[in-house]
Amino acid sequence: MESPKPEMLVSAARPKLPYPGLRPFEPEEWSIFFGRETMVDDVIKRLAAQRVVLIHGASGSGKSSLVRAGVMPRLARQHLRHGIKWATCAMRPSGGPLWNLAHEFARLEGREDNLDRVGHIIRMFNQHDATLSSVVSSLEGLQNKRLFILVDQFEELFRFERETSREEAELFVDLLIAEIADEEYDAPDVVTPIKSRKAGIHIAITMRSEFLGECARFSNFAEAINRTQYLVPRMRYNALLRAIQRPAELYGGEVTVELAERLIADVRGREDELPLIQHGLMLLWNAATNSSDQPVILDVKQFEHAGGLTRLLSDHADRVMASVSPPGGSSPAVERLFRALTDINAEGRAIRRPQSFRALLDTSEVQPDELRKIIDAFRADGVSLLTPYFPAPIEDKTVVDISHEALIRCWDRIADAQKGWLRREFQDGLIWRSLLNDAREFEIDRKHILSPAATTQRIKWFGERNSSWSERYGGGWEPVVKLLQASRRMAIRSTRFRRLLMTPVVLLAALPVLGFDWKMGTLAIVGGLFMGTLLILLIVDYSRQFIPSERVRTAIVWSAFAAAGGAYGAAGFSSASLSTREIFQLVFSLATIIVLIWMVMKIGSRLLERIPARWIPARLLRLFGAEPAISLRHRPSVVVSLDD
Ligand SMILES: Nc1ncnc2c1ncn2[C@@H]1O[C@H](COP(=O)(O)OP(=O)(O)O)[C@@H](O)[C@H]1O
Ligand SMILES: [Mg+2]
Repeated sequence: MESPKPEMLVSAARPKLPYPGLRPFEPEEWSIFFGRETMVDDVIKRLAAQRVVLIHGASGSGKSSLVRAGVMPRLARQHLRHGIKWATCAMRPSGGPLWNLAHEFARLEGREDNLDRVGHIIRMFNQHDATLSSVVSSLEGLQNKRLFILVDQFEELFRFERETSREEAELFVDLLIAEIADEEYDAPDVVTPIKSRKAGIHIAITMRSEFLGECARFSNFAEAINRTQYLVPRMRYNALLRAIQRPAELYGGEVTVELAERLIADVRGREDELPLIQHGLMLLWNAATNSSDQPVILDVKQFEHAGGLTRLLSDHADRVMASVSPPGGSSPAVERLFRALTDINAEGRAIRRPQSFRALLDTSEVQPDELRKIIDAFRADGVSLLTPYFPAPIEDKTVVDISHEALIRCWDRIADAQKGWLRREFQDGLIWRSLLNDAREFEIDRKHILSPAATTQRIKWFGERNSSWSERYGGGWEPVVKLLQASRRMAIRSTRFRRLLMTPVVLLAALPVLGFDWKMGTLAIVGGLFMGTLLILLIVDYSRQFIPSERVRTAIVWSAFAAAGGAYGAAGFSSASLSTREIFQLVFSLATIIVLIWMVMKIGSRLLERIPARWIPARLLRLFGAEPAISLRHRPSVVVSLDD
């Protein structure tokens, strides 16, 4: 994450565009950041008193922007005015909080590419009794400088703690807590010269409010939060009007009052109020500047044409996707990317799921060049739907993230309640967990396998996943492979068994029609049936190599058999000289036999399903095509239609 120099933060250079879109404001964009003046004062007062402030609020309430474009430039101006040198850095916990912080420190020393140095700083963090102050005092070039650290998206630490390292997460929290000013300590304000190293470190932490409860899981953190928290207030109506209209004015344009009021009315009270307004304004502004050289005037007409703020965002993401997809088609690679980058939390809310580029390659199995091209399209200037924003380089360890949750909630492709990627991913996760459960049961009891129908469905589904993906839902790739293999073996065996039984029955039923001479020896009949059955099974098995689909194979073999039987029957009919009445009787009795067999199978399967599975041999169940009855010992896997 970049750490802007103080001069940049107070420079009067105008950013390229008046509206940043879905992403948070950056420090250099302080001049187009409006509506948060009193809140910036509030945060600075708290920083001065306690040195650590935890800024929390809903997703999209403007926490990151408040610190980046409000607090940081204000500190820079005050400090420059008083001639005090200072350094500033921003980091996120995702991927490794200590590494990220050490990397920022190395950057402040001008040595961000020196991995040994980063490793050395991490070792300093790990030393007994280490504090941020002690580490900072040994950094080169930071003596006599104040340091401001922004820990953005602090909630990422909880996932890191769960999935990667509790120990590192705890150490990181301890380092932060140690910097809070003691009550008896005479905390200096932010403008007077530093009296001690500790007094020179200021930390702002931003976090979504729903994670406040989780903080209590770290020792002493709840107490620290009680002393330092700041809940971001909503922007008042007039402040919102200013945030909408003032940037356009700075660029010689205008957003009419009617449009500003419509924008606010469209999303007022919704959780994505600010991101949707920002993104809508960015699109409207870009469209207007691209189509004419005249000063831009944005009014309600353009907005109505676009169909509302949510539609604007969803259509925009669709257009970006179309730009990296084959003509007229959607891109499975884009779907895999966004499925990997989104999640549903314990409260059922859609959230981001930052991933390293390497992890995305592993789970999506998209070629590196193609994935890079897709990510670049979504993070381009004027798009900003993914981070890191262009042109920051993307390497294997670069963390890729959705720039704002508003995208997850508003882009139809992700959010659609029936067909959205989020729902599909959730369902696939359920299927995996259920398969894993079955696989564990199978390890204990070898009879616990999937039904043939579930096996076919699961094997097809399984072919589209990989072991990296499965790690997200508990891993266990090997046991699941074993379960599927055993289930497939059993399904093949039971199909063979059923065929073995059905073939002679059908042959027997067909014999009269085919004009078979009943007076022939019984041995010949049995021998003929046996050979006929064997032949059909052999053909079916042999055709497996050429025709993978079971259904097609069966249809071809049986049609061939019917055609041969028909030809033979026709020949027999012409030589047997049966009367029309006899033929009618034969056809009728054949039809009756088939219906009877069908009914026995159906009724048999219904009856068997009522009996607990452990009392019936699995083979008998499969012969009748019955699903085992649900008992606590034997629960069939959850079947979720993959087509919806
Ligand atoms: N003062 C503001 N005026 C206009 N838009 C804002 C303001 N603060 C934030 N935004 C916009 O709101 C969205 C969310 O901001 P962000 O700082 O990322 O919020 P959070 O960190 O709370 O999720 C972004 O699109 C950002 O550009
Ligand atoms: Mg944020």
